[in-house]
Amino acid sequence: MRAIVVKSWLKGPGDMEVKDIPVPLPKENELLVKIDSAGANFFDILLVQGKYQIKPPFPFTPGAEFSGTVVRAPSSGKFKSGDRVFGSNPTGAYAEYIAVPQAQCFHIPQRLSFEQAAGLYITYPTSYAALKLRGRVQPGDWVLVHAAAGGVGIAAVQIARALGARVIAAVGSQGKFDVCREQGAEHCVNYREAEWVDEVMRVTEGRGVDVVFDPVGLVERSLKCVAWNGRIVVVGFAAGAIEKVAVNRILLKNVEVTGVHWGAYARFQPEMVAEVWRELFALADQGKINPVVYEPVFYGLENAKTALRAIAARETYGKVVVKPSAEPAPKL
Ligand SMILES: NC(=O)c1ccc[n+]([C@@H]2O[C@H](COP(=O)([O-])OP(=O)(O)OC[C@H]3O[C@@H](n4cnc5c(N)ncnc54)[C@H](OP(=O)(O)O)[C@@H]3O)[C@@H](O)[C@H]2O)c1
Repeated sequence: MRAIVVKSWLKGPGDMEVKDIPVPLPKENELLVKIDSAGANFFDILLVQGKYQIKPPFPFTPGAEFSGTVVRAPSSGKFKSGDRVFGSNPTGAYAEYIAVPQAQCFHIPQRLSFEQAAGLYITYPTSYAALKLRGRVQPGDWVLVHAAAGGVGIAAVQIARALGARVIAAVGSQGKFDVCREQGAEHCVNYREAEWVDEVMRVTEGRGVDVVFDPVGLVERSLKCVAWNGRIVVVGFAAGAIEKVAVNRILLKNVEVTGVHWGAYARFQPEMVAEVWRELFALADQGKINPVVYEPVFYGLENAKTALRAIAARETYGKVVVKPSAEPAPKL
């Protein structure tokens, strides 16, 4: 099969090479999946450079999210050959096939395409846990979503709306306003412009927002436009810096600053993983969440580097998808 193979740390994703390697042999309790689509992530860039927290032994195939069709399944388990699945693994998704533990896969909800499902595994439960479990979003709340056009951001916009909240989307360029509005944001602000905090206060009639969803590193400034009893959920640090916050500001408005680490729920609260997915699948069946796929989809593993370049340049919205096939399947 064809796969990206990394044999030593690279200068960047531009140096990734596609090779012919054997189809992986699934272990007992693993599925063999023919990959239709892989979800691209910023951390893939760090992974191939040896700058990520996970450093796989060489040689390895990067890519952490995928969707596809089961071609071999253990007789015990909920999957069979031909099932449409999506899942995640620390490595292996930029390839034609992946062998992956069954526990790391789910059936694709009926309404969703392979492309939509490829980026579901990490973003949606992260955003759901952030808003529902940590931010305790209530119907009628104002929710400020930072990096609202990004992977976790756009999921957060949809989920906040599904929970009955009103959304202010904050992004880094005007060009991303439309995609946020299409997903249900009532107002959009550009956090590269100095007056965005005033704009949030104006929209909320001087009250501030009830919940802030922050995957960027904007806690300090968000404290200026959060309401009394507001909750700020720290989701990530896309801007690259870890903030130091003057805690008196947390006291002054009775604010809660909390975090979410979705990947760690499997270890510390596995029962919540099942519950979050149950609720997300229900929302997907009702059409209340509908993953947004960046256009263009990148065909051919050689184009994974172009996909990752677009992510690094902040050009993308929603989930960036790479297909191992060199061209779109003919429409029948
Ligand atoms: N806590 C968890 O369990 C968890 C789970 C998944 C992801 N995360 C974290 O959440 C963050 C976002 O992930 P994602 O998948 O949504 O990523 P993404 O799709 O690449 O979106 C990130 C967005 O951040 C914004 N951004 C702001 N400042 C930036 C900067 N200096 N450089 C690059 N981007 C910047 C960009 O949007 P604009 O151009 O609009 O500013 C960009 O589109 C990451 O830090 C990730 O590690 C956390």
